Amino acid sequence: MLAIDLTGKRALVAGVGDERGLGFGIAKALAEAGATVAVATWPPLIKMFKLMLARPSSEALLTLRDGKRLGFSAIYPFDAEFDRLDAVPAEIREHRRYKDMGDFTVSGLAAAVAADGGVDLVVHSLANGAEVTKPLLETSRAGYLGAVSVSAYSNVSLVQHLGPLMRPGGSFVCLSYLAGQRVVPQYGGGMSSAKAALESDARVLAYEAGRKWGHRVNVISPGPYRSRAAEAIGPIDQMIAYAARTSPLPEAITAEEVGVTAAFLSSPLASGITGTVVYVDKGYSAMGLGGTTSG
Ligand SMILES: NC(=O)c1ccc[n+]([C@@H]2O[C@H](COP(=O)([O-])OP(=O)(O)OC[C@H]3O[C@@H](n4cnc5c(N)ncnc54)[C@H](O)[C@@H]3O)[C@@H](O)[C@H]2O)c1
Repeated sequence: MLAIDLTGKRALVAGVGDERGLGFGIAKALAEAGATVAVATWPPLIKMFKLMLARPSSEALLTLRDGKRLGFSAIYPFDAEFDRLDAVPAEIREHRRYKDMGDFTVSGLAAAVAADGGVDLVVHSLANGAEVTKPLLETSRAGYLGAVSVSAYSNVSLVQHLGPLMRPGGSFVCLSYLAGQRVVPQYGGGMSSAKAALESDARVLAYEAGRKWGHRVNVISPGPYRSRAAEAIGPIDQMIAYAARTSPLPEAITAEEVGVTAAFLSSPLASGITGTVVYVDKGYSAMGLGGTTSG
């Protein structure tokens, strides 16, 4: 039987801070495919995330399809805005949610991953734009650059720092959104620019990391999904309803669907795929004019 088999692979999913996000669904799918999974979590969320994992009511959520329990080999503190500790402003370094976290920057994460034996598969599942609710016409320089720094450059930095730690044939996957290609009015603050950069960078990184190390770099572009981050952006239910009226397949996407796609792209079954954007959006992105026929 042809199966996604990640047995013996070490995976790292960056951007897992609760059980509702796409990153959690991806981590679960990678574990179900047999990988050992570590996560990297934004420092302010680490405590709550660990409490959630320890709650008896989380057991069902943590049960894998073979009945085993999802457990993470490590939960690394990680702030994607910073590459080195000496570049972190003192007020953040000394903040109560950061000061006991060790080196939470990209280079600190890479050092911790190296000390734990390396990594084979990396998934970047994070984004943040402080001015996401503002139209681009009203976005400040700081807001725009902050969105691109956290949501796009962080992926470049992860590939730079973790690529050398991987055996040849490693895989990087990151998560984009259609707003990087087409206009989605409420996705502002430079976030659409960040997703456009993320996708373009993935193609260039696929070439450079492919030639340098033999690694692959791919992008998943999911349709609208009700995560905590999506709720913060605004009318996520409206976006899901619009996608349902417009898409070839009307059901909302699930984290499991994104997760199994990430597992496939990370697996040797996808050894011929790199530099590609895979849409997990029920076909929404294929439509020019939707919602006019009932089918
Ligand atoms: N939810 C959607 O509709 C949707 C659609 C397409 C793409 N995506 C993308 O999927 C990915 C995951 O998002 P999600 O919707 O599952 O939301 P989410 O809230 O679960 O994930 C976003 C994560 O990013 C983390 N994060 C934010 N700033 C960070 C920083 N500076 N350092 C480290 N981590 C930081 C948050 O803590 C959170 O864990 C993002 O790239 C998002 O843009 C989401």
